[in-house]
Amino acid sequence: MAAKPKSLRIQLLARLTLPLLVLVLLDAAVSYYVALHYANTAYDYWLLDSASSLVQQVKGRQDKVTFELPPIALQVFRWDEIDETFFKVESFKSGFMAGDKALPSPPQPMSYQQKPYFTDAEIQGKKVRIVSLVTIPPNSTEAVRISVAETLNKRRSMMVEILMAVVVPQFLLVIITGLHIWTGVKRGLKPLRELAGAISQRSARDLYPIPDNDVPLEVHSLTHTINALLQSLGAAMMSQRRFIENAAHQLRTPLAGLKIQAERALQADNLEAMKLTMGQIKNAVDRVAHLSTQLLTLARSESMASHMAEFERVDLKGVVYECCMEWVPKALERNIELGFEAQGAPHDVMADATLLRESINNLLDNAIRYSNAGGQINVLVRSSPRVLLSVEDNGPGIQASETDKVFERFYRIPGSPGDGCGLGLAIVKEIAELHNAQVEMGCGPQGTGTRVTVVFPVASDDVRRLKR
Ligand SMILES: Nc1ncnc2c1ncn2[C@@H]1O[C@H](COP(=O)(O)OP(=O)(O)OP(=O)(O)O)[C@@H](O)[C@H]1O
Ligand SMILES: [Mg+2]
Repeated sequence: MAAKPKSLRIQLLARLTLPLLVLVLLDAAVSYYVALHYANTAYDYWLLDSASSLVQQVKGRQDKVTFELPPIALQVFRWDEIDETFFKVESFKSGFMAGDKALPSPPQPMSYQQKPYFTDAEIQGKKVRIVSLVTIPPNSTEAVRISVAETLNKRRSMMVEILMAVVVPQFLLVIITGLHIWTGVKRGLKPLRELAGAISQRSARDLYPIPDNDVPLEVHSLTHTINALLQSLGAAMMSQRRFIENAAHQLRTPLAGLKIQAERALQADNLEAMKLTMGQIKNAVDRVAHLSTQLLTLARSESMASHMAEFERVDLKGVVYECCMEWVPKALERNIELGFEAQGAPHDVMADATLLRESINNLLDNAIRYSNAGGQINVLVRSSPRVLLSVEDNGPGIQASETDKVFERFYRIPGSPGDGCGLGLAIVKEIAELHNAQVEMGCGPQGTGTRVTVVFPVASDDVRRLKR
């Protein structure tokens, strides 16, 4: 089953907003703790102020210290709508002097140190912040500790306010960014959608390049690639059309001849004349049959090329030998000596055996057809350094100016004997390309005749053998 395509929008959204969200959360946490620290410090100063105001009420008289707080002052001191306030006054010598006995004392032992000491504790099940101050009133040598505590309600509501002030705008920022990405990607992909729409409305024959004037720069590489593909498709279609025209033309000629000969046979008034015409009809049918075999071989080779052919291991030597044996009668007809030689072993190639046979048959057909009667043909199969097959004759040869042209479809050297259709070498080339093999055209060892060599690619296990 094909994997579901991933949405670009969701990917972008995830890639951009997730890191943004993490950053925002980090930023919110840092801002929250910094704001909280400063606000707590401010509340601690107020608490310290209250403690300092109580210090004023500690007086020293001879050997005694006293703490006096008028009821009205106590009322003012305790008055707070939101929080509860507690205090405790303790003497170093005599212990508890005034205030709330339940207020816990700081954990450190009482000393003469003057620095305010802040601590957190619980009183009557409520969490409180406590500040403790040690003072030695004038006219006295006795140290007194004053502790003032306050519940945390104001601090808590301030924490919530800070949290809301910091986190809400940042979350809004992430949501707005996400929305912008969502709509921005949609807008950004609009040219691509328009391009897809324009392409889908085209007819299969319309291979004109896609105009890319209105297309964004980022999409240019895509339009260029599509246009290059359209161009090569156009060229392929053109060559297909030319091929069909040529094939039709090639078919029409022998068929027209066939018709005339059939009419002539019908009008023949004696058996001899009819036999002669029937012979001509047979030749015409042979030509048509040969042409259709050649066309079918080409079509098969082309369709395999476009369908990623699956090859099998083929013993080239065996296949070539069998083909040679089939061509012996034809060679004998022209008094040609057909020699076969195999050098080295093994001669295995990865190939399509049927197409390989067609290719060898075409080479043998050419060698027998175009070399001189009474001549010599040597067929060689070699295994090292690469597996190759060569068919060499001592016939008239092919001029250097023609060696490229003879591989073109339907090309025949002007004045060539016989009634070939000019597809044989094109088929050899096509099949060689399908097998990643190279075709080389040359002449015999004495500089005469024709030698066509097909060199097969090195198989992967052969590569290993060669490297050793
Ligand atoms: N061994 C050869 N010696 C001399 N000329 C050759 C030889 N092989 C091919 N040719 C020349 O190359 C031309 C192209 O050969 P090709 O096999 O493609 O076509 P064909 O033989 O004319 O037709 P087909 O093989 O389709 O029946 C031939 O017409 C012939 O002139
Ligand atoms: Mg031929």
